[in-house]
Amino acid sequence: MKHLVLTLLAIAMLLAVPALADTTLMVASDLHYLAPSLFEGSDLFLRNISQGDGKAPQYSAELLRALLDEALEIRPDALLLTGDLTFNGEKQSHLELAAAMDTLRDAGIPVWVIPGNHDINSPRAFAYHGETYEKTEAVTPAEFSEIWQRCMLPAEASVGLSYHVPLNDSVWLAMLDVSVYEEAVEAYGFYSEELQEWLLPLMAEAKENGVTVVSATHQSLIPHSSYRPGSYCIYNREYLQEDLRSGGVTLNLSGHIHVMHVIRQNGLTDAATGSMCVSPHCFGLVTIPEGGEPRYERHTLTHLPEDVRTATAAWFDANTRRQFLDVLETLDVTPEEKEAMGRYALWYQASYFGGTVPDREALLADPAYALWETYAPNSSIFNAIRRIVTQDTGEAP
Ligand SMILES: [Fe+2]
Repeated sequence: MKHLVLTLLAIAMLLAVPALADTTLMVASDLHYLAPSLFEGSDLFLRNISQGDGKAPQYSAELLRALLDEALEIRPDALLLTGDLTFNGEKQSHLELAAAMDTLRDAGIPVWVIPGNHDINSPRAFAYHGETYEKTEAVTPAEFSEIWQRCMLPAEASVGLSYHVPLNDSVWLAMLDVSVYEEAVEAYGFYSEELQEWLLPLMAEAKENGVTVVSATHQSLIPHSSYRPGSYCIYNREYLQEDLRSGGVTLNLSGHIHVMHVIRQNGLTDAATGSMCVSPHCFGLVTIPEGGEPRYERHTLTHLPEDVRTATAAWFDANTRRQFLDVLETLDVTPEEKEAMGRYALWYQASYFGGTVPDREALLADPAYALWETYAPNSSIFNAIRRIVTQDTGEAP
């Protein structure tokens, strides 16, 4: 009898303890949203971006709708947008995108943003009309802060547009603005002394309270490849890495490189979310068990209409082809070899941007690797492939 009472007591106690809940974050990056009124009906705009990097801002409205629908279905505890919110910092694009995020906030999903190198003081904010274009209004840091005030928590003591969000009792977000836009607009990031002075006490407080902190930056905290780390990374990243580690941070969320890639070094992971504006339109989901280490997973938009998905994939494919077709035309190779080299380059590029990078063995084993190495060893496409094959990718994430 005593045994039964004790068992019932134990069950009652277990039921009284609330189950530990996971915190879920959804992260999207490099939306490069462009207000339709700034380009609609302009063939010049389409011709210009057809010479770009595969971004498809002509589908801005459809991509935004799909992102909102995706978030409404997933219902994360927060949606994070890690910079390059707009195509080239147009005020109109900022206004429309910020207003659209109210849909999520009204549905109980907070949205937190940081700027990227394209968002503030942009010299390239243009409006297209038919066969002409002109400068359109860009935003200053103060205007950015004003437009995005419902998606930021800049504290009095904060620096620039960085802030911290106490998401719940166990998870805080450190949203770090490391973009450089005050005197000149730069692609690289910089961790300033002022930001460090603000971050260190926050890290100490988090540690004292046993809180899990997830940080977010636009530029990479850890180089994802040896290609132009000076442009893609935080210039003095070692200091930031050290300070984040001091607060027990194990995951930083970044964007900027448009490639979906996760890298880990000395216990710190930098998860770069691919560009929402580039096929296959990746986003990340972070699961944080209470008291546990955050886990990052790659996803792609499922709410995008099929015709748009097909069109953006073809757009990316055409941009990739343009980058290597000129090279192939100059080579003294057979049509079969040319075909094999083209197929290989398309496979590599689509995998790399979509976050399903083939492993080194798979890249090396394909006979087309040897063809590229023999006939076009100095081409940019082969150099990109060689970087993957030879780079130090850190620890397995
Ligand atoms: Fe960027």
